[in-house]
Amino acid sequence: MSDDRDSKKVLLELTEEHLDIGMRGIPVGTCRTSSVSPDGGVHYVGYPIAAVADKAPEDIVFLLFEKRLPTEEESIAFRKNLFSRATIPDGLVKMLENLPRDGHPMDWLSIGIHALGMLGKTEDWEEDALNLIAQMPYLMAAIFRIRGGRSGSLPDVDPNIGMVEAFVAMLEPKPEQVANMVKVLRTFLVLHMDHGGGNLSTFTGKAVASGHADLYASMAAAMNALSGPLHGRANQSCLEFVQRIGTDDPIKVEEFVRSELAAKKPIYGFGHAVLRVEDPRATFQFSLGEKICPDDEYFSIIRTLREVAPRVLGENPRISNPNANVDIASGTLLNHVGFKKPSYYTTFFGWARVIGIGAQIVDERITARNGKGIPIYRPKYIAIDQELK
Ligand code: MLT
Repeated sequence: MSDDRDSKKVLLELTEEHLDIGMRGIPVGTCRTSSVSPDGGVHYVGYPIAAVADKAPEDIVFLLFEKRLPTEEESIAFRKNLFSRATIPDGLVKMLENLPRDGHPMDWLSIGIHALGMLGKTEDWEEDALNLIAQMPYLMAAIFRIRGGRSGSLPDVDPNIGMVEAFVAMLEPKPEQVANMVKVLRTFLVLHMDHGGGNLSTFTGKAVASGHADLYASMAAAMNALSGPLHGRANQSCLEFVQRIGTDDPIKVEEFVRSELAAKKPIYGFGHAVLRVEDPRATFQFSLGEKICPDDEYFSIIRTLREVAPRVLGENPRISNPNANVDIASGTLLNHVGFKKPSYYTTFFGWARVIGIGAQIVDERITARNGKGIPIYRPKYIAIDQELK
């Protein structure tokens, strides 16, 4: 039976059990940028994530938009095109400077993206997606600088050095910090860019875009979805969790995990809606950590946690995936290279997802259904006094 017939069968067999479960596992559309399989994790346009994780982020932007990797000449031309869009409109910094400093960085990011739209959208889906991707390092740097008590006027940097390189240069870290910061952030960005069509932020962004709100408004909505602790903000919670463990002793780590479970608290960095094995993005970050920070205090803790937690969680037959997910190591790596405040970690996730969500919105708006685009999202809710047919 073809995949198409299989999914039709799933739709025909929809029963009451499929309602009020957050649409989990229910097919609602198609996705051309990436796929997620329970045993292989995320693939970008068919490439397993580990095969592209070392590539330049700009080449993966090209991949997600063009559905193929660029040639060397295309890569150079695309970078030029992208970097020519890297301007921040007047007014953005002033607006950011007036936001409450104790607001969460994700709220700043969402407001910043929405404001960028008000200050200069073109209303062309693809133009706006690429413009926003090019603007992200500048918006991120302005947020980090202003919240850190520094001037929001960004130092002049040559955008041609790369998206991540430009962001790091605008933060003006100590020279010895630059190389590892760039290495960890480039990998972080590539690993987090896209994760199929149904994760909450991507779904939200596409749903809002389906009503023809513009790209920036749709993306701001997506960032609000990402900011929840059950979605993107889990990477903030994960390092805070690791810091609470405070030891890499396997016996003590096991005691800690068991006591958290007994108190019905989450074990951050483990489990996933789709995956049933260790997330390949976690595996990749562990090998990066072994190279750049094998002796880091928190890295030693997560190394132990990676051994202990799946065993303990696996004792519960109701836990379908006790393995490490993408959040387990990302906070530790970010902390090691100098990003000490976990509350900022989801903004890096957001920066990365602007790319995948942007590509998916463009696909749904201008490519799908032979260019007609997906109609406005309008799922059906069953009134509780109505009988299921
Ligand atoms: C992820 O990157 O793991 C996600 O966005 C979560 C999901 O796929 O639901």
